[in-house]
Amino acid sequence: MSLLALLFLALFLSRSSSLDTLSASQSFKDGDVLVSGGGKFAFGFFSPGDSRRRFVGIWYAALPVQTVVWVANRDNPLSDTSGALSIDVWGDLVLHSQNGSALLWSTNVSSTLVARSSSPIVQLLDSGNLVLYADADKMFVRWQSFDHPTNTHMPYMKFGVNKTSGLNWSFTSWRSYDDPQPGNCTYKIDTTGYPQAFLYKDGKPHFRVGSWTGSHWSGIPEMTNTYILGISFVNDEEEVSFTFSTRNSSFTTIMVINETGTIQPLNWIDESRMWAPLYTGPRDPCDIYNQCGPNSNCDPDITSQYMCLCLPGFEPKSPTNWYLRYTADGCVRKKGASICQSGEGFKTIPNVKIPDTSASLVDMSLSLTECKQACMGNCSCMAYASANDIGAGSGCFRWHGDLVDIKTFSNAGQDLYVRVDATELGQHSKKTIQKIMAALAALFLLLLVSFLLIIKRRRDSWRAKLQDQMAKLDTDLPCYDLSFVAAATDNFSIANRLGTGGFGTVYRGVMSDGTEIAVKRLSEGSGQGDEEFRNEVNLIAKLQHRNLVKMLGFCLQNKEKILIYEYLPNKSLDAFLFDESKKSLLDWRLRFDILMGIARGLMYLHQDSRLRIIHRDLKASNVLLDSAMQPKISDFGMARMCGGDQSEGTTNRVVGTYGYMSPEYAMEGLFSVKSDVYSYGVLLLEIVSAKKISSHHEETSSTNLVGHVWELWKEGRCVEIVDESMDVDDPQSLSEMLKCIQIGLLCVQELPRDRPTMSMVVFMLGNDRVLPLPEQPAYTMKKSNMGPENSTSDGAASVNQATISIVEGR
Ligand SMILES: *[C@@H]1O[C@H](CO)[C@@H](O)[C@H](O)[C@H]1NC(C)=O
Ligand SMILES: *[C@@H]1O[C@H](CO)[C@@H](O)[C@H](O)[C@H]1NC(C)=O
Ligand SMILES: *[C@@H]1O[C@H](CO)[C@@H](O)[C@H](O)[C@H]1NC(C)=O
Ligand SMILES: *[C@@H]1O[C@H](CO)[C@@H](O)[C@H](O)[C@H]1NC(C)=O
Ligand SMILES: *[C@@H]1O[C@H](CO)[C@@H](O)[C@H](O)[C@H]1NC(C)=O
Ligand SMILES: *[C@@H]1O[C@H](CO)[C@@H](O)[C@H](O)[C@H]1NC(C)=O
Ligand SMILES: *[C@@H]1O[C@H](CO)[C@@H](O)[C@H](O)[C@H]1NC(C)=O
Ligand SMILES: *[C@@H]1O[C@H](CO)[C@@H](O)[C@H](O)[C@H]1NC(C)=O
Repeated sequence: MSLLALLFLALFLSRSSSLDTLSASQSFKDGDVLVSGGGKFAFGFFSPGDSRRRFVGIWYAALPVQTVVWVANRDNPLSDTSGALSIDVWGDLVLHSQNGSALLWSTNVSSTLVARSSSPIVQLLDSGNLVLYADADKMFVRWQSFDHPTNTHMPYMKFGVNKTSGLNWSFTSWRSYDDPQPGNCTYKIDTTGYPQAFLYKDGKPHFRVGSWTGSHWSGIPEMTNTYILGISFVNDEEEVSFTFSTRNSSFTTIMVINETGTIQPLNWIDESRMWAPLYTGPRDPCDIYNQCGPNSNCDPDITSQYMCLCLPGFEPKSPTNWYLRYTADGCVRKKGASICQSGEGFKTIPNVKIPDTSASLVDMSLSLTECKQACMGNCSCMAYASANDIGAGSGCFRWHGDLVDIKTFSNAGQDLYVRVDATELGQHSKKTIQKIMAALAALFLLLLVSFLLIIKRRRDSWRAKLQDQMAKLDTDLPCYDLSFVAAATDNFSIANRLGTGGFGTVYRGVMSDGTEIAVKRLSEGSGQGDEEFRNEVNLIAKLQHRNLVKMLGFCLQNKEKILIYEYLPNKSLDAFLFDESKKSLLDWRLRFDILMGIARGLMYLHQDSRLRIIHRDLKASNVLLDSAMQPKISDFGMARMCGGDQSEGTTNRVVGTYGYMSPEYAMEGLFSVKSDVYSYGVLLLEIVSAKKISSHHEETSSTNLVGHVWELWKEGRCVEIVDESMDVDDPQSLSEMLKCIQIGLLCVQELPRDRPTMSMVVFMLGNDRVLPLPEQPAYTMKKSNMGPENSTSDGAASVNQATISIVEGR
């Protein structure tokens, strides 16, 4: 009887001791498990999710959902079940594949701890901590899994830094739900300045969980000591650490750094048999680190305007970028602010996440009043706030320099006191006087400008009259003999053909003196009489502008109507822009000069020349480049010469190129200078992006470039459209590019009256003014069976890949 009892006792003892511990003499193979004393955790081999690979780790033994909280061999998975754990002669717990050849993982303490242990033993505690003791009496801990966290913060585990050993308790996400290898997200405490918790993504700060301000992290105000969690924070000479525990042992709570880039405290819910997040961060766009740039405040609840607001007394550093929702530059002190004279003070911004404290001064002994005095007394102090919200708000943060990463909470957060000058403090008298002065100055300027304009008009009209008279005296353009043209083009040989389009065919020619020319042979049936044609040519030949192709002569003989132009060897813009190898030749300066030149040429056609000419077919292939890469618009007189001689109106003969055509022109035949402006806007977007108007964009499911840019613009991402072959790191270029995109979008607006004129475009390109916000662009042409790039014209002319262009040889 007593023997039996003894036997039972022995059995019980041996089983219970072998359940949660492993000693040096024991082996541990795939399939074996240690279970902690209270049955809460298990340790052994497992395969995560759908993976077949084997890892060694710790998981909740009793939960119906596999929840792994720690992994040993993250970097070295086993491909089969041949793994085995043991304690080696040095006293380390090691993982080998069974044939003994490969060491896959080790606790690796013997290399740093000299003392050898006599009888090391491993135990899995009911907290989920796997501990390697030096001896069976468990007095000395050689190693513990809680010091080597993976992606899960468990109760009683420390998060932070041991300042003595330099050991960090930080977390790194898995690579994916079934791959525990280290992923891209890391959660750790940065001890620069006043310690802060950061979630890093790809090594860069992604979400500043913030500084500990007494009862919570400044970025997660709701996560305080609650009935679920008990929290302790230590910041002394030896360590900075954050620990939590559950208030009631029946609660199961962990904090996971998710592979998707979030921090989630999770609570196990027995009824639903699943983990429920208590919180998920980052929660809104304002949680993303430095979302609005320095010296601004991000408020996710603002619906009437953009969420980024400059702090009081500050204004956007680059207004254009700011209104384009590119806010990385942030805000700077308003011009003329004098923050360090008598009368200045502080403005309170309530309910905020206080700025990055990595460069702030901290003094826990100061009260808030003393804090204010300390900040007031030093002109470089930008702001102050309480460092401890427990009690009467003791402790003092002071910031010198930029204030970074501020956010407004709807119903939490603390007060931030930002230094402002007297004007900002509401001493209005001075401000009002300044305003009145400014208004007066503006009025005066306006009068002066209108006066000058009137004088200029007068002078222009005199000059125009004078020129009209001069023109009559002008010798007209030379009229060449057909035989001369035939000789120059080798009898219009196919070898010399440069391009064909709606109006006719272009040939390259060489005159007897060796000068190269471009010869445009108009197709028959323009319906113009000879005298009409001659007059028209002479009119158009008088259009002289450095951004227009020059006409040299013409030929009118045997029903042939031929125009002779200068020849430009650098071909057309599209040959550079849409060529992978050549587009990098067009750097941003060059592109800006090109789009400025085109705008000037077009402005001249629209208003500065005596003929008002609407081009009606502006596109990249109609812009030629001279040897200095100066843009020259070609084909500019064609619409007029071929029967469309109104300057505004309707036509049933639509010439143009789909994609570049404004909707009112493409669909109703309505044309005006504003339809050219539309084409210019398209061309501008093409130049910035080096993408064709017809290009299709999967990510925004837009059928063309205009729609794509608009989608990106709405999301504040239009910097993404900029051609990668240009240097976007130069902030000045980048701000110009963004300005151009905005101008492009203004030009392609739905309603012609909303679009700017070309002279406004030239002004906007050349000046740094705040631009209006564009409306939704015109109905973006869906791909039809006509194809996006086909030119159309009435039945008489051919429909081709491009409308006729002077030099298009390839
Ligand atoms: C031992 O196992 C490792 C890893 O599983 C494998 O790469 C190696 O080829 C094996 N060696 C022998 C001799 O079986
Ligand atoms: C063990 O640690 C030493 C020094 O810290 C290091 O050089 C070595 O690579 C580590 N070995 C393993 C297997 O991790
Ligand atoms: C920090 O590291 C030192 C040296 O390794 C050690 O003595 C001390 O116990 C550690 N402190 C904590 C809180 O782990
Ligand atoms: C701990 O973090 C500090 C900086 O935060 C770093 O310099 C140090 O190398 C880290 N130590 C370890 C063991 O990762
Ligand atoms: C991690 O970052 C690298 C480099 O940024 C990227 O190539 C990789 O796809 C990322 N991995 C995951 C899982 O996001
Ligand atoms: C812990 O929670 C259980 C059920 O949720 C409850 O019955 C029990 O009273 C709680 N214990 C304490 C100490 O609050
Ligand atoms: C990560 O978050 C996603 C989405 O919230 C969730 O489906 C997944 O289970 C989470 N992973 C972990 C390890 O908690
Ligand atoms: C103001 O504060 C800055 C930063 O702490 C310090 O370098 C400077 O000496 C202070 N100036 C005065 C006048 O106290």
